[in-house]
Amino acid sequence: MRSFLALLATGLASAATIDMEGLPDTGLDTSSWTTGQAPDIDDLVDLNDLQIAAKNTLSGANYAYYRTAALDEITYQKNMLDWAKIRLNGFSFVDVSGINLNTTILGYPFSAPFFIAPAAKAGKANDGAEANFVKAASAAGLLYVPSISSTLSIEEIADAASDGQIMFHQEYIWSDTSKLQDELDRMEVSGFKAIFLTVDNTGVNGIRDRSLRYTSGSSDTGHSATFTISALNMLRNMTSLPIVPKGVKTAHDVKLCADLGFPAVYISNHGGRVVDLAPTAVEILLDVHRLYPEVFDQIEIYADGGVRRATHILTLLALGVRAVGLGRSPMYANVYGEEGVTKMIDILTTELETTMALMGQPDVNDFRGNTTFINTRQIELEYFGAPLDVDTSSSPYAISS
Ligand SMILES: Cc1cc2nc3c(=O)[nH]c(=O)nc-3n(C[C@H](O)[C@H](O)[C@H](O)COP(=O)(O)O)c2cc1C
Ligand SMILES: *[C@@H]1O[C@H](CO)[C@@H](O)[C@H](O)[C@H]1NC(C)=O
Ligand SMILES: *[C@@H]1O[C@H](CO)[C@@H](O)[C@H](O)[C@H]1NC(C)=O
Ligand SMILES: *[C@@H]1O[C@H](CO)[C@@H](O)[C@H](O)[C@H]1NC(C)=O
Repeated sequence: MRSFLALLATGLASAATIDMEGLPDTGLDTSSWTTGQAPDIDDLVDLNDLQIAAKNTLSGANYAYYRTAALDEITYQKNMLDWAKIRLNGFSFVDVSGINLNTTILGYPFSAPFFIAPAAKAGKANDGAEANFVKAASAAGLLYVPSISSTLSIEEIADAASDGQIMFHQEYIWSDTSKLQDELDRMEVSGFKAIFLTVDNTGVNGIRDRSLRYTSGSSDTGHSATFTISALNMLRNMTSLPIVPKGVKTAHDVKLCADLGFPAVYISNHGGRVVDLAPTAVEILLDVHRLYPEVFDQIEIYADGGVRRATHILTLLALGVRAVGLGRSPMYANVYGEEGVTKMIDILTTELETTMALMGQPDVNDFRGNTTFINTRQIELEYFGAPLDVDTSSSPYAISS
């Protein structure tokens, strides 16, 4: 009797009951998990599972830091819920025996059309911090773009790279231009090949309730609040590396960046962490198709936000995106260190190969930009008030010549 009660008490104290945050129910069973401990990695079969595992493992403050988003988190939620309104068109009678995910990003070869996006403070999940991303990306042939707000320094991250590994580096627009110049120089000397210049945190960060509950929410970010086009042109003179504006969130600014001669632009609402109620990448891309379809031939376009599945990557690729970023998922995977990040990459790679085979297009480079593979009319109806193609005589499944 005594041991039964003791067992019961232990069970009550440690068994995990986790709020799944409305993520798709795919049958994940957490009843054997212990709160505060990383569950058996073999329990995890998709990227949502990785999030729940991180939630179970990390302190409330550290999980909130990664998970938080701006205000009511409408954009954070919409980033993930919009996928349900997409329909993917697959075709049979195609030879899909040789799947190819290899592609180039800014001219450099990578093994997949997705990459690890810049996200601050990987050290909150694992002592290996950003080095885990460098190593997992290297082993997989994937692009990693470390954040300037990383736990490790620019040089420490570069030191973890393998011979010939290509990485880009993210930068913020500091009002302190000598700090900016110093960091840009160090990125170039350390061998980073391009700069993702984040342009959506103008002077301030978004107000993020979940993390405010654990911190004072100091408002001094050091970010410039006077970053105009002339400041942008001055900044382009501060480095010889190619610059890719990140966090562009209107078709207008996509076109502006293309016309200013940037080699690429990165559409992102920062995972819903800046302007709540901002549109999603799919909505912005549809607006670019409507207003400035020529930019897809002018420059490369990257995008992110709410990407948890290969189907999400393929949706963005079909809309003309060259490569897709993942922000939170790698951070969550990092509670297992490099092994977790590798697992995340493997899951997505397998999902991509499988979905492409099932859809009847074996080569990712032939899939890209072919809107025959998607039906976005539900989103168009919601976003524009009518589908873009109002010619109802054409079936949404028609093959364009
Ligand atoms: C914890 C966290 C930290 C981030 N830090 C940065 C950063 O330092 N610089 C930046 O450009 N974007 C940052 N982002 C935004 C990501 O690069 C990316 O745009 C976003 O996370 C994509 O959405 P997802 O988390 O749904 O994949 C951060 C995102 C998260 C979740
Ligand atoms: C992808 O690239 C790698 C590395 O260059 C190469 O070994 C592999 O054969 C390529 N895969 C395909 C399907 O072309
Ligand atoms: C950038 O450099 C070029 C060439 O050195 C110069 O002509 C131009 O005025 C500079 N632009 C700015 C905004 O500093
Ligand atoms: C788009 O994909 C469809 C289905 O595979 C194909 O019939 C069509 O030729 C493709 N279009 C282009 C421009 O590649």
